[in-house]
Amino acid sequence: MGIETGVAWRELRAHFEHVAELQLSQMFADDPQRAEVFSLEEQGLFLDYAKNRITRESIDLLIKLANEAELPAAISDMFAGKKINKTEGRAVLHTALRAPKSSRIELDGVDVVSQVHAVLDNMAEFSEAVRSGQWLGFTGKPVRNVINIGIGGSDLGPSMACEALRTYSQRNLNIQFVSNVDASDFAEAVQGLNADETLFIVCSKTFTTDETLTNARTARAWLLDQLVDGDAVAKHFVAVSTNTDEVQAFGIDPQNIFGFWDWVGGRYSLCSSVGLALMVSVGSTNFRAMLSGFHAMDEHFRTAPLEKNMPVLLALLGIWYNNFFAAETHAILPYDHYLKLFPAYFQQGDMESNGKYIDKSGAAVTVQTGPIVWGQAGTNGQHAFYQLLHQGTKLVPADFIGFAQSHNPIADHHDKLMANFFAQTQALAFGKSSQALADEGVDEALVPHKTFVGNRPTNTLMAEKLTPFVLGQLIALYEHKIFTQGVIWNVFSFDQWGVELGKSLAVEIFQQLESGDASKAKVDASTAQLMDRYLSTRKSR
Ligand code: F6P
Repeated sequence: MGIETGVAWRELRAHFEHVAELQLSQMFADDPQRAEVFSLEEQGLFLDYAKNRITRESIDLLIKLANEAELPAAISDMFAGKKINKTEGRAVLHTALRAPKSSRIELDGVDVVSQVHAVLDNMAEFSEAVRSGQWLGFTGKPVRNVINIGIGGSDLGPSMACEALRTYSQRNLNIQFVSNVDASDFAEAVQGLNADETLFIVCSKTFTTDETLTNARTARAWLLDQLVDGDAVAKHFVAVSTNTDEVQAFGIDPQNIFGFWDWVGGRYSLCSSVGLALMVSVGSTNFRAMLSGFHAMDEHFRTAPLEKNMPVLLALLGIWYNNFFAAETHAILPYDHYLKLFPAYFQQGDMESNGKYIDKSGAAVTVQTGPIVWGQAGTNGQHAFYQLLHQGTKLVPADFIGFAQSHNPIADHHDKLMANFFAQTQALAFGKSSQALADEGVDEALVPHKTFVGNRPTNTLMAEKLTPFVLGQLIALYEHKIFTQGVIWNVFSFDQWGVELGKSLAVEIFQQLESGDASKAKVDASTAQLMDRYLSTRKSR
């Protein structure tokens, strides 16, 4: 039986009929306490959710829904290391990656926290060696370029966080990310670089991902082209993986493998050795400060009552729009240029976790699940897609993220940035009426075009400054939001079977392309036609 057959869902549906008619402007006018009631602070991270189309009753009913879905028990199960990722038979313990050294979390009778800290210590030693210039390449030169080769969770997390914490980075190190199997990605990354000053981190949980292994082989060939001697590989390649056998088969020195565990999902792996490139960039002290921020949010999520629980509230608001207002998408709009990759990171985090139509019993769901997640840094987005947010026909709930202090306090830039930040949520919520336009003497024919109906919901997250700690808080906030929604929609949020079919078809098609003859390919007529066209026009290698 789906969640929609429960009492809370039914009550929410009836309540929605009433709330759908309400205007935010009226709700603010009616309740002087509204901003205060619908806001929450957690260790310096402030959430204002007053500009949502909710009443106090909406929150009560949504909390009732969370309780009906037995969210508190689900949270305990995850933190306790129960094997909640049933389709892969695994525990989900990314929270253990940021647990303090003094804590103990057992999985199958073994404490995982001590394992986590042993790897963190190895990472710190390696990072410091690279940062200090003690790690020498094959010709005795220190490393100047670090290239992470990985894709999906083995790329998006470290690349997003390196960008987010760029001001904390060691600027004389050039950190790059290669993910796409399109050779242009690799070719551009190594353009002008000397192999003897370049270190590759091959980052792959499974070490079977074709894109990553293809790029890693190309990297090895590029390196040996310049350095010739096969022994150079040991000085210029390290790996991050759970699959040590495959890493060694590739030829990487076992001493240079940073392990992690199958209970860490790829898109939840930034705090593991997948964050190695980040640690090299910002140093172990900043990396550990980020882990503290993650842990602070983990503890908040684990212990705060649901009605004062930031990830839970964001999740429930998302469900309110997704399942009752029929919103199809959710925008993440950071007003900090350093967070420009944050929306893309949570595009994978959210869509790979909750983009599922089969529930935990194996039946098709009967309610909408994960939204399409997208976004871009402000103010750039304002000059691109905000037109649709303000006057389009679609409801796009959005999260605005901003900071009181800039890392680059130059002239009046930051006040201008934040003025836009505040202006946008105000405009979305309250719009501009045709009456106000008429009062201003706007040409009658233009009034409809210039009218903003408003009533468009947003959350606002603010912190003092984008520090490593705050970044950790923010990421954990969204991780737990996704978890909460998965519990309510009753889907398995930690597997990703939906990516498999395309991968296996590509393997078959690749063989046909390699043979140069598509006639035996077991593909449909459209694909056959396209393959033929490709084969007849591609250049032979
Ligand atoms: O795209 C599917 C996926 O399995 C992601 O979940 C994962 O983050 C990515 O591929 C990379 O996987 P790996 O780290 O094993 O190379």
